[in-house]
Amino acid sequence: MTSDPTAPAGPALPHRLDGRVAVVTGAGSGIGRATALVLAAAGARVVCTDVDGAAAAATAGRIGPDAGATAAALDVSDRAGVFALLESVAAGHGRLDILCNIAGIIRTGRVVDVEEADLDAVLDVNFKGTFHACQCAARIMCAQGRGAIVNTASGAIDAATPEIMSYSVSKAAVVQLTRNLAAETGRYGVRVNAVAPGLVRTAMTARHYLLPDGSLDEAAREAAEKPLRRMSPLGLIGDPEDVAYAVHYLVSDAARFVTGQILRPNGGVAMPW
Ligand SMILES: NC(=O)c1ccc[n+]([C@@H]2O[C@H](COP(=O)([O-])OP(=O)(O)OC[C@H]3O[C@@H](n4cnc5c(N)ncnc54)[C@H](O)[C@@H]3O)[C@@H](O)[C@H]2O)c1
Repeated sequence: MTSDPTAPAGPALPHRLDGRVAVVTGAGSGIGRATALVLAAAGARVVCTDVDGAAAAATAGRIGPDAGATAAALDVSDRAGVFALLESVAAGHGRLDILCNIAGIIRTGRVVDVEEADLDAVLDVNFKGTFHACQCAARIMCAQGRGAIVNTASGAIDAATPEIMSYSVSKAAVVQLTRNLAAETGRYGVRVNAVAPGLVRTAMTARHYLLPDGSLDEAAREAAEKPLRRMSPLGLIGDPEDVAYAVHYLVSDAARFVTGQILRPNGGVAMPW
């Protein structure tokens, strides 16, 4: 023990995740991939999952087997598949500490034009996929007496953005699921929160600015980003890591007093100012 009065007092900052077992959905791209990498850098053993199994494997490969990363193909809308994956992770590691529900899709179309099949597809992945994983993980985590879940909403919950009704509704449902589950699981030591990111540069957003040859139309992207950048007090559009760091905070012990919350990594866009 040091008696140096200038030494920093107290324990190390509680952001490390050493030894914790984390499952990330949608880990093959964008925010999910960045989250898997950040959690692994903090010491977690990350199970990278994605409907695109090769993409999940690529993310796990970037982390490396020495860090305990593994990969699995998982369609979150497949309830039986979600339960099988989470139960096998918990059985194999003897624990499930962290679940990050990040997989998501978007379909565009005016309310008057939306096809029921498109509405179903978005709800099946974004809302029901999150629900399936939350339900299974909550059972495991409540039984073990600890755990942290982070779901992914969107800035769309705060606005009436034209032509993305299905997506906005699915994300609003994720918010309410998050709050309800947090209210039910807190007494068992399980915290449940969500992030609601603003515009983030990922494959999901880039596909709106692609030229016929598949390359990025920089002018179209700039035209779409400019008004949002102007609405941000920080003048920023997000990178996937900006959301991943918020998720990292929420699953860490630094957030032990935080549950049922919706954290908005969005450059301050939705903040009245
Ligand atoms: N990019 C943004 O501006 C933004 C803003 C707010 C919220 N979000 C949300 O963040 C999350 C991640 O989005 P992103 O921008 O990184 O998109 P992305 O397209 O880069 O990544 C989404 C990942 O989810 C996977 N996925 C799709 N359907 C799946 C399914 N049925 N089962 C499992 N995996 C599936 C995809 O294969 C992909 O790897 C989504 O929930 C999205 O709605 C994104």
